[in-house]
Amino acid sequence: MIAGKLTPPIRLEDFHFLTDYIRRESGINLDDEKQYLVEARLVPILQASHIESFDLLCAKLRSGNGGPLQQQIVEAMTTHETLFFRDSAPFDALKTHILPPLIEQRRSLKKLTFWSAAASSGQEAYSLAMLLLEMGLGDWNIKILGTDLSEKILDKAREGRYLQIEVNRGLPASYLVKYFERCGFDWQLRERVRKMVHFEKFDLRQSMRTKGPFDVIFCRNVLIYFDIETKKKILTELRGTLFSGGYLCLGGTESTLNLNDQFKRVAFGRPVFYQAP
Ligand SMILES: C[S@@+](CC[C@H](N)C(=O)[O-])C[C@H]1O[C@@H](n2cnc3c(N)ncnc32)[C@H](O)[C@@H]1O
Repeated sequence: MIAGKLTPPIRLEDFHFLTDYIRRESGINLDDEKQYLVEARLVPILQASHIESFDLLCAKLRSGNGGPLQQQIVEAMTTHETLFFRDSAPFDALKTHILPPLIEQRRSLKKLTFWSAAASSGQEAYSLAMLLLEMGLGDWNIKILGTDLSEKILDKAREGRYLQIEVNRGLPASYLVKYFERCGFDWQLRERVRKMVHFEKFDLRQSMRTKGPFDVIFCRNVLIYFDIETKKKILTELRGTLFSGGYLCLGGTESTLNLNDQFKRVAFGRPVFYQAP
């Protein structure tokens, strides 16, 4: 028996069917050690849908009779962990090293474009927006695109409303005062910041031909979930959406090493950015 008292444990055959299914639908790669994770995350879906076993769930998916289950499974298996100014150093590097010359270069055009390519609940994209406002770019034409595979998490991102515990993570107190207003027990991002970001659903495995060109892309803490071929394909596509000289920022444990040699590795102390030729 597992978390839900009535749900029998997953059989190996069903586990393999589900990991194949999840890989197909999201690109997320789950090895054999993740059986506990699949069970823990999918049992609530089984219970809510009154499906008595993983066997029956797999039968529904196999027959193409999954209905909303497909999206629910993808939602349940994606990890949305994020926070404002995550890891801080990439944002410091942006502020100190990358943006000043870029601003000089665009002073007459007053236009900059950014992409938060696995935006989750929006903290990364809004951190960029606040940073740009702090740098005095409020009257520039700033476009920040935030995309994610999960519609549900994008709804939260669009709302721009955060719990106390979320604004306690990474957000300087002065930014909270300046860019948020109290909304009951929560905090609502002011319209001025929200309107700088446009959120839309996008699967990173799709062609990116219609995206960009961007000055800076943040694609952080998502490549870790994909297999090598998928990572390679995504990096090649991302490269194609950057302006020449534009920068890609990956998560702290991610790199282009052995995956793509088109980028120039640029280290600003600890944080590393990848520059398009
Ligand atoms: C751990 S969060 C990272 C959020 C943010 N980039 C950060 O570093 O704080 C990973 C996000 O990637 C999204 N994701 C997973 N697979 C995806 C795919 N194939 N295409 C687009 N987004 C995906 C998930 O829904 C999740 O919100």
